[in-house]
Amino acid sequence: MADLKIAVILGSTRPGRNGKAVADWVLAQATGRTSADYALVDLLDFPLPHLDEAAPASMGQYANGHTKAWAAEIAKYDGFIFVTPEYNHSTSGVLKNAIDYLYAEWNNKAAGFVSYGGLGGARAIEHLRGIASELQIAHVRQQLSFSFFTDFENFSTFAPEPRHGAGAGVLFDQVESWAGALKTVRG
Ligand SMILES: Cc1cc2nc3c(=O)[nH]c(=O)nc-3n(C[C@H](O)[C@H](O)[C@H](O)COP(=O)(O)O)c2cc1C
Repeated sequence: MADLKIAVILGSTRPGRNGKAVADWVLAQATGRTSADYALVDLLDFPLPHLDEAAPASMGQYANGHTKAWAAEIAKYDGFIFVTPEYNHSTSGVLKNAIDYLYAEWNNKAAGFVSYGGLGGARAIEHLRGIASELQIAHVRQQLSFSFFTDFENFSTFAPEPRHGAGAGVLFDQVESWAGALKTVRG
């Protein structure tokens, strides 16, 4: 087992979602890396209603079982790769809601972003960067953005251009580097 644990958080739950293929590709690219273990965190496995906690997440007083289960999952990881679709020039509501549920479990950890959409989903990442900053998540420069015009066949079957493989390597390097540094901060 490696020192670091990185979650690949799949930020879409829509029936027929393209996000699963993108997240699976990210995980496949991480296979064989020795300094971190990568695991899929699928929001379908953590069904969360619209935020229903009375106390702000920053108080850490979680009342509901679904919140405690989600918090226990995110607490396991040193870093995150958020895989986000672009919905109306932003990230998905389901991912934003899941992020809003927690606070300390995100703090002083590292993250990178992977997006997809008509124009690569970069606008979703820009919104996520602001959200991550508020949660004291250190987000790295490298990002991957997959376009429906060049990285999907017939706008539906994920077939990323080969250059993205090298880009993924840079993304993992950057996230692992900061995740390791921040582990000492948390320690
Ligand atoms: C509600 C909604 C809004 C969308 N808005 C945008 C958009 O603003 N820009 C874009 O490039 N694609 C947009 N799309 C297309 C999505 O990026 C595309 O359907 C993608 O596959 C969604 O991810 P998913 O399949 O994992 O749910 C939108 C799709 C939905 C469902």
